[in-house]
Amino acid sequence: MNPPYAVTDNNMNPPYVKTNHNMNPPYVKTPKDFQQDMILLKLSIKAHMEARAIIGTIPPDFFGGGPTEKGIWLVDTIVRNQLRNCVEIGVWRGRSFIPLVVAVKYIGGHAVGIDPYTAEAMAESEAPAPILADIPKNVRVTDFDKVYRELLMMLQTTFNSSHFTLFRKTAQNTVDDIRFTIDLLHIDGNHDRELVAVDIALYVPKVRPGGWIILDDTDWQSVQSTLKSLKNYNARQVLDAGSWQAWRKQL
Ligand SMILES: C[S@@+](CC[C@H](N)C(=O)[O-])C[C@H]1O[C@@H](n2cnc3c(N)ncnc32)[C@H](O)[C@@H]1O
Repeated sequence: MNPPYAVTDNNMNPPYVKTNHNMNPPYVKTPKDFQQDMILLKLSIKAHMEARAIIGTIPPDFFGGGPTEKGIWLVDTIVRNQLRNCVEIGVWRGRSFIPLVVAVKYIGGHAVGIDPYTAEAMAESEAPAPILADIPKNVRVTDFDKVYRELLMMLQTTFNSSHFTLFRKTAQNTVDDIRFTIDLLHIDGNHDRELVAVDIALYVPKVRPGGWIILDDTDWQSVQSTLKSLKNYNARQVLDAGSWQAWRKQL
């Protein structure tokens, strides 16, 4: 059949069509699907207002600061696709982790954040030149323990612990703690080519078929050079937002 197509059930009279969620879109939706869409849309709006209010209190800084629009996109994608098990590599002050936690709270899920909060982890040798030059100075004036403690305190006072885990470890040292299949993975740790490649090699196999992989700073040469390896995991790009991309594993 040529798309757009729908799987029809010969026992039903047209125009009814049976949806098959194992097919890639486009498939034709039933009235029941639309009812479910409306429920998820309402949840998504509530969640995104909540996430926006919280990340509004976390100003971006030299080491991090996902744009608010990306946070809202993450919330909407998680809620509407009911992606209950989310993992983020590279949390910093939480501007992209908070949207994950808020979103999973609304659908009864769990978000895991992974970040060592150390000066060593900040050493990036392949960042674009203007950023590279400013890394040592910013590392010197940063209190990494304080950044971690402040985020943890905020998470603990704002959310039920059933909805989040924050590992203060590198992604490499945390991989054995991830004992579930990931629905959405956000990779925003160290951006040097070798380390992004390690994050992909260790974590993308844990993403379920149909699951989402979001990569930040895809406009950096080091990150860009790793992207085609995602095809080895049966993933294809579904969104290029310029400085970040979304990929999905095929079903
Ligand atoms: C660009 S920041 C993350 C920004 C954050 N996602 C946001 O939107 O605000 C990169 C983070 O990756 C962390 N990082 C560096 N190496 C890492 C590693 N091997 N595993 C996990 N996180 C790492 C750094 O400590 C830093 O906090």
